[in-house]
Amino acid sequence: MSFLLLISFFFILLLSNLSPSLSQQTHFSSSDFPWLPTQNKILLSRNKVFAAGFKQIRSSPNQYTFSVWYYNIAGNNTLVWSAETSSAIDGTSSLVITNTRQLRLINSANQTLWNTGNSNSTGLELNNEGNLVFGNWQSFDFPTDTILPNQEMSNGTAAITSMNGKFRFQDYKNLVFDSSKYPGQQKFSQYWSIDNAFLNLEETGMVKQENGASLVSSDFGESGKFRRLTLDDDGNLRIYSFDSKISDWEVVWLAVQEMCTIHGTCGPNSICMNDASNSDPTSCVCPPGFKQKVNDKSSCEVKIQFNNNPGNTQFLQLDFVNFSAGSNQTYKTVQNFSMCQSSCLADPKCLGFGFRYDGRGYCVLVNYLLYGYWSPGTELAFFLRVDKSETDKSNFTGMTSLLETTCPVNISLPFPPNESDTTTRNIVIICTIFAAELISGVFFFWGFLKKYIKYRDMARTFGLELLPAGGPKRFTYAELKAATNDFSNLIGKGGFGDVYKGELSDHRVIAVKCLKNVTGGDAEFWAEVTIIARMHHLNLVRLWGFCAEKGQRILVYEFVPNGSLDKYLFPASRVPSLDTETETEMESVGNTGSSNSKPILDWSIRYRIALGVARAIAYLHEECLEWVLHCDIKPENILLGDDFCPKISDFGLAKLRKKEDMVSMSRIRGTRGYMAPEWVKMDPITPKADVYSFGMVLLELVSGVRNFDMQGSLMESEDWYFPRWAFDKVFKEMKVEDILDRQIKHCYDSRLHFDLVDRMVKTAIWCLQDRPEARPSMGKVAKMLEGTVEITEPKKPTIFYLVDE
Ligand SMILES: *[C@@H]1O[C@H](CO)[C@@H](O)[C@H](O)[C@H]1NC(C)=O
Ligand SMILES: *[C@@H]1O[C@H](CO)[C@@H](O)[C@H](O)[C@H]1NC(C)=O
Ligand SMILES: *[C@@H]1O[C@H](CO)[C@@H](O)[C@H](O)[C@H]1NC(C)=O
Ligand SMILES: *[C@@H]1O[C@H](CO)[C@@H](O)[C@H](O)[C@H]1NC(C)=O
Ligand SMILES: *[C@@H]1O[C@H](CO)[C@@H](O)[C@H](O)[C@H]1NC(C)=O
Ligand SMILES: *[C@@H]1O[C@H](CO)[C@@H](O)[C@H](O)[C@H]1NC(C)=O
Ligand SMILES: *[C@@H]1O[C@H](CO)[C@@H](O)[C@H](O)[C@H]1NC(C)=O
Ligand SMILES: *[C@@H]1O[C@H](CO)[C@@H](O)[C@H](O)[C@H]1NC(C)=O
Ligand SMILES: *[C@@H]1O[C@H](CO)[C@@H](O)[C@H](O)[C@H]1NC(C)=O
Ligand SMILES: *[C@@H]1O[C@H](CO)[C@@H](O)[C@H](O)[C@H]1NC(C)=O
Repeated sequence: MSFLLLISFFFILLLSNLSPSLSQQTHFSSSDFPWLPTQNKILLSRNKVFAAGFKQIRSSPNQYTFSVWYYNIAGNNTLVWSAETSSAIDGTSSLVITNTRQLRLINSANQTLWNTGNSNSTGLELNNEGNLVFGNWQSFDFPTDTILPNQEMSNGTAAITSMNGKFRFQDYKNLVFDSSKYPGQQKFSQYWSIDNAFLNLEETGMVKQENGASLVSSDFGESGKFRRLTLDDDGNLRIYSFDSKISDWEVVWLAVQEMCTIHGTCGPNSICMNDASNSDPTSCVCPPGFKQKVNDKSSCEVKIQFNNNPGNTQFLQLDFVNFSAGSNQTYKTVQNFSMCQSSCLADPKCLGFGFRYDGRGYCVLVNYLLYGYWSPGTELAFFLRVDKSETDKSNFTGMTSLLETTCPVNISLPFPPNESDTTTRNIVIICTIFAAELISGVFFFWGFLKKYIKYRDMARTFGLELLPAGGPKRFTYAELKAATNDFSNLIGKGGFGDVYKGELSDHRVIAVKCLKNVTGGDAEFWAEVTIIARMHHLNLVRLWGFCAEKGQRILVYEFVPNGSLDKYLFPASRVPSLDTETETEMESVGNTGSSNSKPILDWSIRYRIALGVARAIAYLHEECLEWVLHCDIKPENILLGDDFCPKISDFGLAKLRKKEDMVSMSRIRGTRGYMAPEWVKMDPITPKADVYSFGMVLLELVSGVRNFDMQGSLMESEDWYFPRWAFDKVFKEMKVEDILDRQIKHCYDSRLHFDLVDRMVKTAIWCLQDRPEARPSMGKVAKMLEGTVEITEPKKPTIFYLVDE
């Protein structure tokens, strides 16, 4: 033992001799004190993962913190613990051990800046988990803004606090903002909470919670990764993993999806807006009638005070804006809008009110405009009270145009003419019905909205609901066997497994997918399924639960009644003769009823389907933390619900399989027409591969023809390639009509539909660009379809492979 000590002593001596500027030790004994910031000494954990010592504050060079950090990664700048001192540590301060065995930070005037309290030790050690231990004192009991794997949260102080002191993770349960500076407000204002308090973060990336609950990071299970849970200065709580490939920390879980809902992001009277295109994701803007404060850019002040004459005011409507003011707001249930408005008028202090159009009379009066944010997920419009002489107009609009493109809208469609009887008469009738529908549509659209549009669905469309912390429901095999009547009603077969229809005991109709060839253990499966189940979007098929028993891997989905898009787009008579490989891929979670008289999808329905699918994929790519590539977008995977609201199925399943399998599988699976060039060239697969597939679907929506089916039958040319052909028709020959679906070509009215169809085709061509970088992101695609961004003329797609193999 003493021999070992001697060796290590010798080693330390050698080391300090070799590099006199830096001393690294794994144990500090009393002889190493006092420890001065200028000494350039650090205490290393034995595994050399963590270091402790004085760290210079970069913005003020003569100031230090006494901290623990991840050693030698990310520029030594990931602090995981710091001593909370009463005032700044400067170069003359020192860390000493007192004769009462306290570790104490003192300044040159011998004032205590920080201390550990009495201990029973004289040596300081940093253990392999990043815990700084001094006898019975340990830093793990006094976390600052970070929790490390294996650090029990319940043992130490009851909260972690962000570095800037503005936010706390109270009781490891509630995220709160320190609102004490706002008059009349409570000390803390809560903006996020979880039912079961966090207990600890495991090395695997799982957070254990009270009551046996848990949640997992997106890279759960990947071993040998450094991780941490940190409350950042922007008020969001995140789990980070260190990715050694890019040598940086990567976010693998976060609490708040919408940054603007974090209280205190903007100051009073200001509205926080998300701007994903910007490097700074949030910005603070002033509502109409208000201007930016001179000394505080994140706050606003009113231009004309109405206080002297509250009777002489007007209201400005701010769509999708929510203000809340804790104790300074009053909830009311009212019969109608005008009652809510007059309650506000009656109160001289009322600065505005929020009202929900869902018929339930939700009304909230506010007399302090705090925590304002804009989000299409809010279910209300805010009516801001300003002076009558105010001339500013509200530019927070768009509720109406958004509702127009949101599902579900109750619409009836014409059925196709009988095959034997396709006379002009029928065409005339259909076109008349369609034209009548279009004209009257404008009028009774509002009627539809009032009745059928649920604002909650709208929130889901944008994926803004907070995710429930729990996982999906776990079904037993027996339950599912009973629900599906012993798996008797087979409704689809697919690459991932067979699909059966069933009904749960609570009468929910379900589609049960029995997976085959799923790799990985129980925990892994559970983790993946949890991630899939977390994705809520109106245009995604909902996953309600799963079963993992006796080697069975079963997913339980909502049942989508109207079957898949291909049945409507490609009528039976023209279903291409697919090879057997492809045929097994044909599937739908929905009804595969073989009725041939499917209604014809009109232009506006097709447009709505395109938009819904684009928004859902954009949600998968951009809103979800982990990139979930669908990897198999095609009409068969787009199911149609009530009112032909599209729902994407099979998303996320690729995660259940190994990456290598995916590559080879996709090639065998033969959904050739939809695969991006990257798959063939063996280039890395990015979200842009889904963009490509979506582009194909978009062209098919317009043309009603399978992209690989037209070849040969219609075209002679050797190098025929659907996107090129469509490009030439639209941009060279200027004959859009030539590519339109023959079923409804007659109904195409260039005045009414040109804009819609033109947008769909141009967007499709952009999606079908050969180089992934040239394709727009899915979010941009959705905007292009919506018509909110200008679409420039795309380049002609190049041929990447000939369809014949
Ligand atoms: C971390 O700090 C040590 C000494 O304190 C230094 O040798 C090392 O190069 C630093 N690592 C990085 C990545 O900056
Ligand atoms: C510093 O203060 C401590 C008590 O706070 C005292 O015990 C110690 O003697 C003082 N040291 C000096 C050098 O004054
Ligand atoms: C200090 O006390 C703790 C128990 O409180 C004990 O486990 C530890 O061994 C003691 N350390 C020393 C150096 O006496
Ligand atoms: C935390 O407390 C639990 C009991 O509540 C104890 O078993 C565990 O050792 C403590 N962990 C640390 C790091 O002190
Ligand atoms: C908020 O309400 C409290 C009491 O309810 C009141 O004292 C305070 O003045 C109000 N703040 C504003 C800005 O109206
Ligand atoms: C709103 O409800 C009140 C009370 O029921 C009623 O007196 C009033 O006429 C209603 N206003 C409108 C515009 O319907
Ligand atoms: C408005 O925001 C507050 C919190 O900031 C939230 O509690 C409330 O539910 C929101 N209202 C709506 C209608 O979204
Ligand atoms: C509204 O207009 C103001 C001033 O013109 C601008 O600063 C603000 O960003 C606009 N808000 C929106 C939502 O466009
Ligand atoms: C659509 O309208 C029909 C009757 O016109 C009704 O039976 C059906 O339930 C409605 N669908 C929805 C989703 O409201
Ligand atoms: C089409 O055929 C169905 C029976 O298959 C019949 O009921 C219907 O009237 C026919 N429609 C027309 C327009 O002839």
